[in-house]
Amino acid sequence: MNVAVVGTGYVGLVVGACLAETGNSVVCADRDQGKIDGLRQNVLPIYEPGLDSLVERNQAASRLSFTTDVGKAVASAEVIFIAVGTPLSEDGSADLRHVLAVAEQVGRHVQREVVVVTKSTVPVGTARQVQAVVEKNAKHSFHLCSNPEFLKEGAAVDDFMKPDRVVLGVESAYARQVMADLYAPFVRTGKPVIFMDIASAEMTKYAANAMLATRITFMNEIARLCERVGADIDSVRGGIGSDERIGPSFLFPGPGYGGSCFPKDVRALVQTAKEAGEPLTIVEAVEHANELQKIRFYEKIERALGGSVNGCRIALWGLSFKPQTDDMREAPSLTVIERLLEAGATVVAHDPEAMKEAKRRLGDRITYANTSYEALSGAEALVVVTDWNEYRHPDLARIKRELKRPIVVDGRNLYDPAQMRTLGMQYHSMGRSAA
Ligand SMILES: NC(=O)c1ccc[n+]([C@@H]2O[C@H](COP(=O)([O-])OP(=O)(O)OC[C@H]3O[C@@H](n4cnc5c(N)ncnc54)[C@H](O)[C@@H]3O)[C@@H](O)[C@H]2O)c1
Repeated sequence: MNVAVVGTGYVGLVVGACLAETGNSVVCADRDQGKIDGLRQNVLPIYEPGLDSLVERNQAASRLSFTTDVGKAVASAEVIFIAVGTPLSEDGSADLRHVLAVAEQVGRHVQREVVVVTKSTVPVGTARQVQAVVEKNAKHSFHLCSNPEFLKEGAAVDDFMKPDRVVLGVESAYARQVMADLYAPFVRTGKPVIFMDIASAEMTKYAANAMLATRITFMNEIARLCERVGADIDSVRGGIGSDERIGPSFLFPGPGYGGSCFPKDVRALVQTAKEAGEPLTIVEAVEHANELQKIRFYEKIERALGGSVNGCRIALWGLSFKPQTDDMREAPSLTVIERLLEAGATVVAHDPEAMKEAKRRLGDRITYANTSYEALSGAEALVVVTDWNEYRHPDLARIKRELKRPIVVDGRNLYDPAQMRTLGMQYHSMGRSAA
């Protein structure tokens, strides 16, 4: 099938590369000339495990190409994915300017019957707006589809290749057939393709993200309460996660969720609900509690250092909002770093993949260490923000040796409190008895 993907970011690039991998002829378009130039040379703008080899292989096989010419990319496509960003507007709603700009290009340039798919996360009603914009200019019949994306950064290729489910909002038999064909190779193990109306597909994505954000935030609050009352979040997590109605995933406490999706989608859903006159009080509370969680984590660091970090050198492990990505959008590390700097501390940071992105955002306001151990040298404390694999089982004795004071504040509960105590560490983690 001839496929065009407009917007070659985290989502568009993964979608394009994976669809090319299953034999489609895919053109990825983006207005960012630098990104497209790089991709033509197999230089990826993001770190995502497995994506570089997919891009290289499919580009070499001429199944995948890159262009800045959106009109040309969509002209002869049978399926067009709109995968541009939907950032927050000032009022908290999703900004649809990019989506609608692409819809206009689509209307102007399509030269055949086509399925226009919104892959970007967009509020209910957006497909109707896309329809109106395409219709204004289109000379050929077109079909709408809302196909929210559920990939996780850091596991995006795997998630797309082996999805838990594919959600397709359609309203014509043609769109249903074309999309079912396109996704057939990805659901051969029997994972469901769930067809529904377009509004429900649009809502499904927000409901999923709001539910996940709620789970994380709920556990963060329970963890804080555990610390107060002398309970242990690991035991509690085991105790509730084994309940089939609850399940074990997404129950780990941390320094607050971040990333390009949860914060933005939670806020956009809150705004949609307000506009619809049906406020979502739980989701509003989640957003508030998450912001608080990042601050509470900073306060934990402050307490660990005796009430003030002024003049302290702090080693910080993990800058990306989660492991296996270099994405720092709304990362808790940013809140923690800002607070530390404001309070007069200096920060020496390490991250296996996000150093370049951190330098772009923070410049020389912090120091960057080449290795995780290098960050420790002469620091008063180690703060672990992101649970990268390489931080999970470090040489604890060496950490103690390198640090000026044996203080570790662990936002991800990576280490065993008893072992840390035995080693003579002052160990502070999230919601555990020795927190
Ligand atoms: N990142 C994720 O994990 C994830 C997961 C699921 C859904 N989503 C959703 O997918 C959408 C895209 O997210 P992303 O993280 O890939 O964003 P991104 O910022 O990484 O990429 C968006 C791309 O669109 C391009 N673009 C913007 N306007 C354009 C235009 N008019 N013409 C051509 N290109 C244009 C930008 O240059 C950029 O490269 C968002 O709605 C997001 O909420 C993201």
